This record gives sequence, structure tokens and C-alpha cells, in this order.
Amino acid sequence: MTGMTLKTIMAAALSAAMTLPAVAQEGEDPASDIGDVGALYPAEGAELTYDICTACHSEMIVAQQGQTREGWDELLQWMVEEQGMEPLFEDEREIVLDYLSTHYNTDRPHFPQ
Ligand code: HEC
Repeated sequence: MTGMTLKTIMAAALSAAMTLPAVAQEGEDPASDIGDVGALYPAEGAELTYDICTACHSEMIVAQQGQTREGWDELLQWMVEEQGMEPLFEDEREIVLDYLSTHYNTDRPHFPQ
């Protein structure tokens, strides 16, 4: 009796909850759902970096570089000033710089084999 009612309520709550993830996917959680990043190391910021940088050249050009954060910062500046890259929004620039300086620093932890 009450068991049935509870079950019904539970089922209704559950099916309501199950519609949530579809909506939640609209929001971005780069760490948990990484799409195509080619040869880049899959981690937070990889997708954004991949999308921005492969507009002009292979991600291999990126993966083969090892730079400090300052080095990457200058390289992005050079990409804008000399290679015609659109200046990045400040928040995007931070994500890309964090990603690059973490995974493509001078010790080259993810140098392509
Ligand atoms: C608007 C086009 C464009 C975009 C977008 C772009 N690049 Fe480049 N990039 C170039 C061009 C053109 C070259 C080759 C320049 C040359 O060799 O003379 C290059 C070369 C490079 C190189 C090689 C530099 C070297 O020492 O030879 C690196 C590293 C690089 N890009 C990183 C990036 C990264 C990281 C991004 C994304 C944040 C990016 N690029 C986005 C145009 C672009």
C-alpha cells in the first residue's frame, strides 16, 4: 500500500532526475567530457586549445613545443601579431596557457612519439 505509493513517487522522482543530465550537458565540464583533441594530451583545457590552434595548423606543431608559461604567452602573442590569430578572450587565454604550460612545458612530458 504505502510501499506502492513510495515506489511510484520514487519512480517519478527518478524519471525526473534522468531528464537532468541532458540539460546539464549544455554546460561545459572540460575535465569530464573531452572530445576530439587529436594528438594533444586529454586534460582540462585540451579541447579549447585544440579548437583554437588547429584552425590554422596541426596540433603536432603545438605538441612538439616545450615552453614555460612565459614562453607560451609570448608565442600566443606572436601568433596574434604575426600569424593573424584572433586575440583570445582573457579567460580562454588563461585556460590555454594553463593547459600548455602544464602539459607542454620544457620537460615535454607528452612529446609525441
Ligand atoms: C591564425 C592562424 C593561427 C592560429 C589560430 C594559430 N597559429 Fe600557430 N602558427 C601559425 C602559423 C602561420 C605558423 C607558422 C609560422 C612559421 O613557421 O613561419 C604557426 C606556428 C606555430 C608554432 C611553431 C613555432 C615555431 O617555433 O616554429 C607553434 C608552437 C604554434 N604555432 C602554436 C600555436 C598555438 C598553441 C595556437 C593556439 C593557441 C596556435 N598556434 C594557433 C598560425 C596560427
